Amino acid sequence: MDNQIMQDLVGKSKTKKVFEEVSVNRLKLKNRLVRSATWEGLGMPDGSLPEEVFEIYEELAKGGVGAIITGFTSVSADDFYFNGMMRLCSDDLIPQYKRLTDIIHKQNCPVIAQLALGAYYRVCEGEAYRQIEPDGMTADEIRQVVGIFGEAARRAKDAGFDGVQIHAAHFFFLSRFISPAVNHRNDVYGGSTENRSRILTEALQEIRRNAPGLHVTVKINSSDFTHGGLTSEESLKICRMLADVGIDSIEVSGNGTSVGGIRAHVNEAYFKEFAARLAETVSVPVILVGGLRSVEEMESVLNDTKIELLSLSRPLLREPDLPLKLESGESTESQCVSCNACYSSRAHKCVFRR
Ligand SMILES: Cc1cc2nc3c(=O)[nH]c(=O)nc-3n(C[C@H](O)[C@H](O)[C@H](O)COP(=O)(O)O)c2cc1C
Ligand code: SF4
Repeated sequence: MDNQIMQDLVGKSKTKKVFEEVSVNRLKLKNRLVRSATWEGLGMPDGSLPEEVFEIYEELAKGGVGAIITGFTSVSADDFYFNGMMRLCSDDLIPQYKRLTDIIHKQNCPVIAQLALGAYYRVCEGEAYRQIEPDGMTADEIRQVVGIFGEAARRAKDAGFDGVQIHAAHFFFLSRFISPAVNHRNDVYGGSTENRSRILTEALQEIRRNAPGLHVTVKINSSDFTHGGLTSEESLKICRMLADVGIDSIEVSGNGTSVGGIRAHVNEAYFKEFAARLAETVSVPVILVGGLRSVEEMESVLNDTKIELLSLSRPLLREPDLPLKLESGESTESQCVSCNACYSSRAHKCVFRR
C-alpha cells in the first residue's frame, strides 16, 4: 500500500482523548487541558508575590489541569500597563518564583510563564514615564525590548519554569507592534509582514539563546478584529514564520478575547475555525483557547481537527478542579456562564464562588 495512504489511515484511526498523557516539544502533560494565562492582579509593584498567589496556583495544580500558563508576567520594571502584574524583571525575584514552580510541580503539572510587555514606557525630558507606541521607538529601543524578553526567560528558567509564552495577543505591546493598524514604521521593523513580525522572531531567538531547553510558545491574535488590523490571513503567515524559526506551540486567541454569553453545546470554541486552519498548515502543536465548555465539544475539536491542546481560563476560575470532575465523570461541562464579572472582582475570583 502507498505509504501516504497508510499514514492517513493510521492517523484517522487514532482517536485523541482529552484525558490522555501527551508530549509536546519538551513538555509532558497528564492530559490535554491547559490553564490559559489569567491575570490575578495580585503582583506587587516590584513583581513580588503575596501569599494568596501561591494558594491560587496550588489549588489550580491540585485540580488536575495538564499544564498551567501564569497570568501575564511583565519583562520590565517600567511597565505600568496594568496593576498587579507579576514580573520577572530582576534576579532578586527568582527565589519567589522558584517557590511557585515547586508548588505546582508537586502536583505533576508543568508551568509556563507568560512573558509580556503591556506597553513600552520612556522617561521624557522634564516628565515622568510616558507610554511610547511602536512608531515612536528607536531601533535601539526595540532591540532592548527583545533583550529584556531574553533576560526574563533566563530568570524563568532559573526559577524552574518548564517554558515561557510570548504574549503577542490582545493588543499588548507585541500584538500592537505586529498590527498594521498600529505599526507604520518604514525601517526593518515595519511595513511588510516579515518586518512587523521581526520583533517576534528576534524575541524567540533571544529566548533560545538565554534559556535553552525551555518550551517556547506564543499566544497570538487570529485576527485583531479591528479596522486595518491583523487579518486572519496575515496571522496565519506570521504563525508559519514562527513555526519556521522553531516555536514549540502556538495558542490561538484574538482581540475581544473573553467573549460573553458562551453556553455549552450552543456557541463554544469561537476561535476553532482559525485554529483548525492553522493546525493544517503548521507542524507545531496548536492550542485552542476561547469558550471551551463541554467535554463533548473538546473531543470534537480534538478529533475533527489537528488541534493538540485545549486551553481554559474562566472555567478554571469558576471550578479550579474542573479537570478532575470531567475526568471522573462527575461533570460533563463547565458551570461558567461567561458573564465576565471576574474581570472586576478582587483577585479576579469567580463571583459565583464562595
Ligand atoms: C480575569 C481574566 C484575566 C485574564 N488574563 C489574561 C492574561 O494574563 N493573559 C492572557 O493572554 N489572557 C488573559 N485572559 C484571557 C484568557 O486567557 C482567555 O484567552 C479568554 O478568557 C478566553 O478563554 P475562556 O473562554 O476559557 O475564558 C484573561 C481572562 C480573564 C477572564
Ligand atoms: S465570574 Fe465566574 S461565571 Fe462569570 S465569567 Fe467569570 S468565571 Fe465565569
